[in-house]
Amino acid sequence: MNGDAAQGAQAPTAGRSVLVGVSGGIAVYKAVELVRLLAKEGLAPRVVETPAARRFVMPLTFAAVAQTAVLDDETAWQGDRGWFQHIEAARSADVMVVAPATANTLAKMAAGVADNLLTATYLAFRGPVIVAPTMNWAMYEHPATQDNLRTLAARGVEVLPGERGDLACGEEGSGRMASPEAILMAVRRAFAREARGPLAGRRVVVTAGGTREAVDAVRFIGNRSSGKMGRAVADEAYLRGADVVLVTTVPAEAAPYEVVAVESAADMAATVNAATASADVLVMAAAVADFRPRSTLAGKIGRDERESLTLELERTVDILAAAARPGLLRVGFAAEAGPRLDRARAKRAAKGVDLLVFNDILAAGVGIGADDNEITIIGADGETHVPRTSKRTCAAAIVDAIERALRGSA
Ligand code: CTP
Repeated sequence: MNGDAAQGAQAPTAGRSVLVGVSGGIAVYKAVELVRLLAKEGLAPRVVETPAARRFVMPLTFAAVAQTAVLDDETAWQGDRGWFQHIEAARSADVMVVAPATANTLAKMAAGVADNLLTATYLAFRGPVIVAPTMNWAMYEHPATQDNLRTLAARGVEVLPGERGDLACGEEGSGRMASPEAILMAVRRAFAREARGPLAGRRVVVTAGGTREAVDAVRFIGNRSSGKMGRAVADEAYLRGADVVLVTTVPAEAAPYEVVAVESAADMAATVNAATASADVLVMAAAVADFRPRSTLAGKIGRDERESLTLELERTVDILAAAARPGLLRVGFAAEAGPRLDRARAKRAAKGVDLLVFNDILAAGVGIGADDNEITIIGADGETHVPRTSKRTCAAAIVDAIERALRGSA
């Protein structure tokens, strides 16, 4: 049914063009992959390199991947009408991406300095701008850089969060450039008509994955949830213009929005509690443990010390129920062992949630760990059945239902 909605986020990109501003950081090599992905998507990427970027990757590489000449300060401002190159480049693009965006280029963008072709083009550009910062963690966390990023965000620039991880300088921390796939998603979102729908600008918190409840320092009680359904809902909400926070127990590669890693139900409860304080929607797709060990051993439980082991479990907090507050639309999931739609309906009523997504984990080929799902969305306005299809299409149907519910409550 809603396959079109998922595709719809991509369709508006046809025949459009993206200007990729490349400034001089080691992540320039990743910008080559980004340009390749944009070209593959039919987005006619044009590249403008700063003089520093040219020292990392020669324009010829970008030109070959983009199939068009690179704009840079050596060739600009010369030749016929070359003095208008920044204006012409700004006019011809629909979306501008700066990746990698170094501390220096971000500072110039925030201050309105236009001392090279990239920054001059940025100043002349009137469409959506996406920046993918990258630098050493100390430079990234410096108040000057953080102020510049806030200034740009306040002016409507989409700032893609830097990833944590190993940095080229040999240190570890925040400051790694968002992946080319994450940047491509941000570009799709900028083009998506859905970005102006009821979710645009709304804060949506999504949970994903199964929680792990520690038994001792190495063991935990967990479940088989892969986190795929929650990830698909987070991606779909993001593509429709929401400000997404994904709270997850499984790694979320290439996510262009904020990702908070958690482990236990208690961690997840605390994070969801803080994240939903200013949120409009909570989607609890995570498989949260209902019980956890009453006590956790700091060390490791040894085999020789005992013949048998009895674990005493206590109930965890019901995160979905605890999150109830006026103005927060709550979406719960009911993974039932069998076609127990009746149980799901009762759960919706008991938890007082706006929408409840039912699925039968015993049905063939769907549910936990699978790429497909089959769901029934239970809402105040009735029930929507989505026959077996990809989790991405299920996510589109769930986000459709969220949009309908938001319209209804507006
Ligand atoms: N949930 C939650 N906190 C918990 C347990 C579940 O927020 N401690 C959420 C899940 O993320 C899901 C919904 O509640 O969105 C329903 O979860 P489920 O385990 O199916 O329901 P329970 O209320 O735990 O009922 P039961 O396990 O008895 O079926």
